[in-house]
Amino acid sequence: MSIFKAHIRQMGAYKPPLEGRSPKSHLLLDFNERTLPVSKPVMDALTDYIHSGCMQTYPSYGDITERLASYCGVNEDQVMITNGSDQGIDLIIRASCNAGDEAIIPGPTFAMYHQCARIENLKIIEPAYSKKKGFPVDEVLASITDKTKLIVIANPNNPCGTAVPKEDILRIAAAAPDCTILVDECYYEYTQLSVAGVLEQYPNIVITRTFSKTWGLPSIRFGYVLSSASNILPLLSVRGPYDVNQLAVIAVQAALNHPEYTRDYVKEVMNESKPLLEKWLDKNNLSYWPSSANYIWLFPDNPDEMNKALIDAGILVRPKSDGDGRKGLRITIGTREQTERLIKVLSS
Ligand SMILES: Cc1ncc(COP(=O)(O)O)c(C=O)c1O
Repeated sequence: MSIFKAHIRQMGAYKPPLEGRSPKSHLLLDFNERTLPVSKPVMDALTDYIHSGCMQTYPSYGDITERLASYCGVNEDQVMITNGSDQGIDLIIRASCNAGDEAIIPGPTFAMYHQCARIENLKIIEPAYSKKKGFPVDEVLASITDKTKLIVIANPNNPCGTAVPKEDILRIAAAAPDCTILVDECYYEYTQLSVAGVLEQYPNIVITRTFSKTWGLPSIRFGYVLSSASNILPLLSVRGPYDVNQLAVIAVQAALNHPEYTRDYVKEVMNESKPLLEKWLDKNNLSYWPSSANYIWLFPDNPDEMNKALIDAGILVRPKSDGDGRKGLRITIGTREQTERLIKVLSS
């Protein structure tokens, strides 16, 4: 018998299917990760730090917040670093909501929002994305009540890749001034879509971002939150002083010194690989959701068969069902060469 809260005892852990995946044995197109190893400067910075004789000390973060502020075009007091954007999502929800509050989380979407909302015992309202209309802005607006405390906008959404127009985000933020509008910009470098420019005008907007995707560093767990200084200050008292580990900061500093690795990768994925895959899918009449990210949610007639053929060829993708229970495959887009390999298997 557990001593923990009844609603938490009833939850299940968020368990992504990580078992058996390795870039050594498979082409990993299942987690929207960068499909190339990190740069040599990042690896060198990590090994140098390990050999520097400082591993026995607590982390100190130096000017990382200032550098991120400059990268994002915001003030330093509008930034807080986190242990991945998952921690940002958790802290924002914990700091915003009380048990019984309503959270509007359009779906289907990334599982952590529900997980964190359920930990806080929130009532979840889930307007549906649609392939035709995209983000359900009218349904979200119509769902706002005086009990709403949180509205989640993943821009772009995962798994469908749907981008949310800035006007829609601002309409929602204006319609619910007392609610936290959590805008997840996890894939920002792919889309260049952001509301970071309006943090002072909209003090209820709180953005999460990460170094897990375009920057290729999910293993070191580094994310950050952007919001008005009046939100960052209280959030800092919810986050622990050492929640972000020193090696993560070392790796991110080195990555920021060489933004060309990220820029070049993004360019190849978005300007070469993605159009190549979309062209092939269109030519073969395969149905997929329009995506503004580095992944495509595909609905073939035979998803299980296609998935098996890909696994047999050493390629992992992610089976994901839509709101009607129809099974699809979410495929991460990698380099041109990797996309050509994917298309070859899909064609056979
Ligand atoms: C929309 C979205 N937000 C957040 C995350 C988590 O990112 P992090 O690794 O920074 O916790 C993911 C990871 O897949 C995601 O797809």
